[in-house]
Amino acid sequence: MTMTYYTLGNSGLRVSRLALGTMTFGTEWGWGTDRETARAMVDAYVEAGGNFFDTADLYTGGTAETWLGEFIAERGMRDKAVIATKFTFNAEPGNPNAGGNGRKNILRAVDASLKRLGTDYIDLYLLHVWDGLTPAEEVMRTMDDLVCAGKIRHVGLSDVPAWYAARAQTIAELRGYEPVSALELEYSLAERSIEHEFVPFGTRYGAGIMVWSPLASGLLSGKYRPTQDGNAGRLDGFRNTTHPGFQKFTERNWAIVAELEKIASELGRSMAEVALNWVATQPGVASVILGATKLAQLRDNLAALDFMIPDALRARLDAVSKTPPSFPYSYFGSEIQARVTGDAVTGDKPAGYAPPLLVEGAAVSITSR
Ligand SMILES: NC(=O)c1ccc[n+]([C@@H]2O[C@H](COP(=O)([O-])OP(=O)(O)OC[C@H]3O[C@@H](n4cnc5c(N)ncnc54)[C@H](OP(=O)(O)O)[C@@H]3O)[C@@H](O)[C@H]2O)c1
Repeated sequence: MTMTYYTLGNSGLRVSRLALGTMTFGTEWGWGTDRETARAMVDAYVEAGGNFFDTADLYTGGTAETWLGEFIAERGMRDKAVIATKFTFNAEPGNPNAGGNGRKNILRAVDASLKRLGTDYIDLYLLHVWDGLTPAEEVMRTMDDLVCAGKIRHVGLSDVPAWYAARAQTIAELRGYEPVSALELEYSLAERSIEHEFVPFGTRYGAGIMVWSPLASGLLSGKYRPTQDGNAGRLDGFRNTTHPGFQKFTERNWAIVAELEKIASELGRSMAEVALNWVATQPGVASVILGATKLAQLRDNLAALDFMIPDALRARLDAVSKTPPSFPYSYFGSEIQARVTGDAVTGDKPAGYAPPLLVEGAAVSITSR
């Protein structure tokens, strides 16, 4: 396979279109790998041409960052590697300022990550999760200070509301801060909510989307079945969860899995490869973060860009997985637009501009891939 690279958002940073996730590095959370498997996955990923590593300060209690830093140092590839890590989660129970997105925690967290990673700079530093509190002004000013101090190179946001990301980007633009180059978000055939707000924002305002859980935590590999009550993988541990983000065993998702299985069979590819290919070639996606607990899984997933999904099959995947737009996107369609324009103009732009964002019954009409 030949790994290809995109620039991240409007930045000049080149990242491979498949990134390696490290949330499975370490067994502390009950679903990860041992050190030798993690190292073998880094080796296989680098040998396939990958350069983009995603981690976070508190993945597996810090083990993920520590091992990643060690593996990169062992290979002598710090300059070549693009390391993304994140802050937000609390590192010290009982101390509210050892977590969150305030300046005090960001400055604490960045030094702790640099130490665990054994490096003196982070290529992409991301806010991990919205804390519902800290103003975007405080986050963006602190991130810009870190760029100026040479501790980080680029800035990203993960798991924030779209309005918060838009405000952060506007503040950066108006105040001359380092802009948001990446949005790290859940996206897959089973979870397409980001298409309504984040994809238009990212493509218009220069934030490349880094996809997490592209296989819906393994569901789209096809190894879980509606009637199964077994031990297939991580999702078995979430069967009784009340958190909506982890409830993957739904009627809608089983329909997606069934259609994906047929299409994968027609293409002669694994279901995981097709699901990963689909999301990697959606508008706005800069890189898809691969997760694996076994080397064989990673090897399968690394072949995901070696083929194309023909339009007719893509349309079937789209039809079974489409998320209906909610208000106000459900309201903006062509009937309303005709009343806006008095039926006089189409709203088309000259060639070379980004296409209009409105189509009947959907949020975006960015069809180019
Ligand atoms: N920013 C955030 O909030 C956030 C959140 C989550 C993840 N992430 C990042 O995104 C990365 C990927 O997320 P994810 O692990 O949830 O991704 P995913 O691709 O949805 O799920 C990966 C899991 O699916 C199973 N799997 C993967 N490939 C398979 C294959 N070919 N065949 C069968 N099973 C397969 C494995 O788990 P089992 O072997 O246990 O089944 C693997 O750990 C993480 O490592 C992390 O870096 C970020």
